[in-house]
Amino acid sequence: MIEKAIEAMKNGEIILIYDFDSREGETDFAIRSDALTREDICRMRKDAGGLICTAIHPKAAEKIGLPFASDALRETGFAERDGDIPYDPKNHSSFSIWVNHKDTFTGITDNDRTLTANRLSDHVKSAMNGGKLNFSSEFRTPGHMALLRANEKLLDQRRGQTELSIAIAEFAGVTPCVTICEMLDDNTGKALSKKDAMEYGKKHNLVFVSGDEVLEYWNNNH
Ligand code: 5RP
Ligand code: ZN
Ligand code: CA
Repeated sequence: MIEKAIEAMKNGEIILIYDFDSREGETDFAIRSDALTREDICRMRKDAGGLICTAIHPKAAEKIGLPFASDALRETGFAERDGDIPYDPKNHSSFSIWVNHKDTFTGITDNDRTLTANRLSDHVKSAMNGGKLNFSSEFRTPGHMALLRANEKLLDQRRGQTELSIAIAEFAGVTPCVTICEMLDDNTGKALSKKDAMEYGKKHNLVFVSGDEVLEYWNNNH
């Protein structure tokens, strides 16, 4: 399925990424942010239901100057500490800042979040290629799109959907800026089970890929 996931990422389709039984045990929708439409955001909030975030390649995050939230908020005394994340105590969360594009109104509508994500991808592309787009002239924080900064060693260090989605984008040769959202279960109050996420994929013709498959491909191909 990994080859199909790479192909679907290339084609701008939503793919379903499961992390690991030993980690969150969650499945996220993931789509390259430059292909994202307002229909995709609508589908994310209705069918997936989790938090809509945009994952960013570490190289671009570094160039743009996007901090980890845990670093930026340290002096408040509220920032997460080492070992705080129960399913991944060796790493901190990938959360960075939250942004809105300055041409949005409230920032939360499907149109607004789509504009924010699409333009984020332009900035990531520029940063990856040594360009000089001015981030702060186009985005403001706080906002309604959570940015996720992928680990600088990607899957060699951290194995969340942040890194899984960026690794797949790298393999696909597309701009490594991917909008993701967890699939939740309306009936149980929990994350949607792997089995149900796979069934959703089958029913809607979306590729489902597991972290194990991505990791095996990563270890053999990078
Ligand atoms: C943001 C999250 C999600 O779990 C998302 O999948 C990214 O986090 P991670 O890389 O840790 O899996 O917490 O909604
Ligand atoms: Zn999470
Ligand atoms: Ca996750």
